[in-house]
Amino acid sequence: MSFRIQPAPVARPNRCQLFGPGSRPAIFEKMAASAADVINLDLEDSVAPSDKDSARANVIQAIGDIDWGTKTLSVRINGLDTPYWYRDVVDLMEQAPERLDQIMIPKVGCAADLYAVDALVTAIERAKGRTKTLAFEVIIESAAGISHVEEIAAASPRLQAMSLGAADFAASMGMATTGIGGTQENYYMAREGAKFWSDPWHWAQAAIVAACRTHGVLPVDGPFGDFSDDEGFRAQALRSATLGMVGKWAIHPKQVTLANEIFTPSEAAVSEAREILAAMDAAKAKGEGATVYKGRLVDIASIKQAEVIVRQSEMIAG
Ligand code: COA
Ligand code: MG
Repeated sequence: MSFRIQPAPVARPNRCQLFGPGSRPAIFEKMAASAADVINLDLEDSVAPSDKDSARANVIQAIGDIDWGTKTLSVRINGLDTPYWYRDVVDLMEQAPERLDQIMIPKVGCAADLYAVDALVTAIERAKGRTKTLAFEVIIESAAGISHVEEIAAASPRLQAMSLGAADFAASMGMATTGIGGTQENYYMAREGAKFWSDPWHWAQAAIVAACRTHGVLPVDGPFGDFSDDEGFRAQALRSATLGMVGKWAIHPKQVTLANEIFTPSEAAVSEAREILAAMDAAKAKGEGATVYKGRLVDIASIKQAEVIVRQSEMIAG
């Protein structure tokens, strides 16, 4: 328990983050026309080293030229372990119009990583007289990142969202996997001749959700690489939503609809939540703190659970 009120994250939809390589400007218009809430123009791992400079220039041009509507527009910069990241930040902050909403910092390993980028961004904002405060989002995708996840979530007032990056995370952890997210063939329990697959990302996701909720940051599930496997994407996304994540990346446009569907509370879920609130109102009027709804206990904690669903639905609608 704590007397502190849990801070609310930024109130904007983040059901799907659609990625596209900065070196492939032909798809930028299609990204803008998609139904994703967040667009991530990538300068990092989908861009070959020889294309880093041209991708940066493409992205800066596109931020101003393309109508991104009401989407949250984000650019994934290169990691702090590369020679590219400072130039990404300097050029974006000096040259990109203020339509740019946020930058995504990959492979964050400690709170000081955010401090360093924050210092650079703050100095350029002041020098250039930029009036809009650039937001940050980060990817937890290393052993260090997950070990320091709570201090990272608290590291900068600019931080709005945190994603789990399954592939780099698995590599850093030395996990025996090659797939990007999802169920892994060898991660199962066995009983009476049957296999029951389990979720190797579960604890990392739960750690991210806890850190994010403590500090008012949006927890997001990262990529699901096999874009021909809708069933697998859906199952992964449903697990993430159940754990408290608000959205998931799309690395192919066909994943956008799936993510939006799963991270928008269904009409059935919203009406059940409203019924629970009504049942608790009736209980309160009778001076009771608990009552029965559809044969099961609901109490004051149920109000908070129901409010999460109703608030999320209203925020998305409005
Ligand atoms: N955003 C918007 N549109 C995209 C897109 C994206 N990320 N990727 C592909 N498209 C478009 C294609 O241009 C094509 O459009 P068309 O029907 O008008 O010709 C259509 O969607 C179907 O594309 P498809 O042929 O199935 O895919 P592809 O071979 O062109 O590209 C990938 C496949 C995976 C290489 C590509 O989707 C991609 O680069 N994804 C993002 C990768 C990334 O950013 N990774 C970093 C984060 S992990
Ligand atoms: Mg990565």
